[in-house]
Amino acid sequence: MIDKLKNLKITSISDIKKVRSINELDQLKSDILGKKSQLNAILKELPTLSPEQRPIVGKNANLIKIELEEAIKQQHAKIIKSIRNAQISNYNKDHTIPTTGIDSGHYHPITIVTRKICSILTKCGFSIKQGPNIENDFYNFEALNIPDNHPAKDMHDTFYLKNNYVLRTHTSPVQIRTMLQQTPPIKMIAPGKVYRCDADASHSPVFHQIEGLYVDKQVTFADLKGTLEYFLRELFGHDKNIRFRSSYFPFTEPSVEVDVEYTINGKTRWLEIMGAGMVQHNVFRHVDIDPTQFSGYAFGCGVERIAMILYEIDNIRLFYENDQRFLKQF
Ligand code: PHE
Repeated sequence: MIDKLKNLKITSISDIKKVRSINELDQLKSDILGKKSQLNAILKELPTLSPEQRPIVGKNANLIKIELEEAIKQQHAKIIKSIRNAQISNYNKDHTIPTTGIDSGHYHPITIVTRKICSILTKCGFSIKQGPNIENDFYNFEALNIPDNHPAKDMHDTFYLKNNYVLRTHTSPVQIRTMLQQTPPIKMIAPGKVYRCDADASHSPVFHQIEGLYVDKQVTFADLKGTLEYFLRELFGHDKNIRFRSSYFPFTEPSVEVDVEYTINGKTRWLEIMGAGMVQHNVFRHVDIDPTQFSGYAFGCGVERIAMILYEIDNIRLFYENDQRFLKQF
């Protein structure tokens, strides 16, 4: 029995040393030490041995088991080391081989579209303003003629923070901040992030808007329509259908929504891309502008929606997943 064990040890150790891959080593480990191994068969025979032989064979078998485990461990380390060495020597092989090209970074599609929109509108005389992403109730709602308990407040799916603060649900609070800082004439746009608790193929909890505001003496709805038509033609070209649909916002009166017709995957549909209208008189009162002296128009457009039309994309989430296969196309 002892001889059998010794032979088993010799052949097992030589088998272990021959192995060159981790997979083979795992397999060999279960052949040598597993339930169906010769070693296990010997251990199972122990009860049939004489009382004198039993402890001797048992002790030997256990010692061999420990030695084999150690040999496997060492071979494992040796294989890993040789794999690493092979990797390093491959890596060092030839420093003069030209690279396959370096991926240089570029702007995200949302940045590209934001810049395009801002460039058209700054040419029309709008200057760029910014406001905070965390707003209080006054700027985000109250000054925009959305009092507490107004149904429009519920429609905003607001992320509420502590102490009457919110993540701004639109860029319209920048209108208020600008009118409080400047006296008319005011002609501004405000690009930025906005937040709503809403998510599906065409809604994301964070998205981008560009706000516009023009306040002066005798600004009319015709000015609004003319400017938006010019802006949309510059943005989309002349072959897209555009429609103004009457709508409601507490901070503009009258109000419209603007839709653009676009075709994606063979289906044609209208997509709403902005809200707009003439500044409501209560808004002027909140910022101390006399509505009998001044009038104004405002608009707010969704950058993702515009990008979806320009690039024929049907799922808003693609903009945020940072999948290189998607981003590389812009
Ligand atoms: N703030 C509106 C929205 O987020 C859009 C809008 C801006 C409408 C300005 C009218 C005037 O839906």
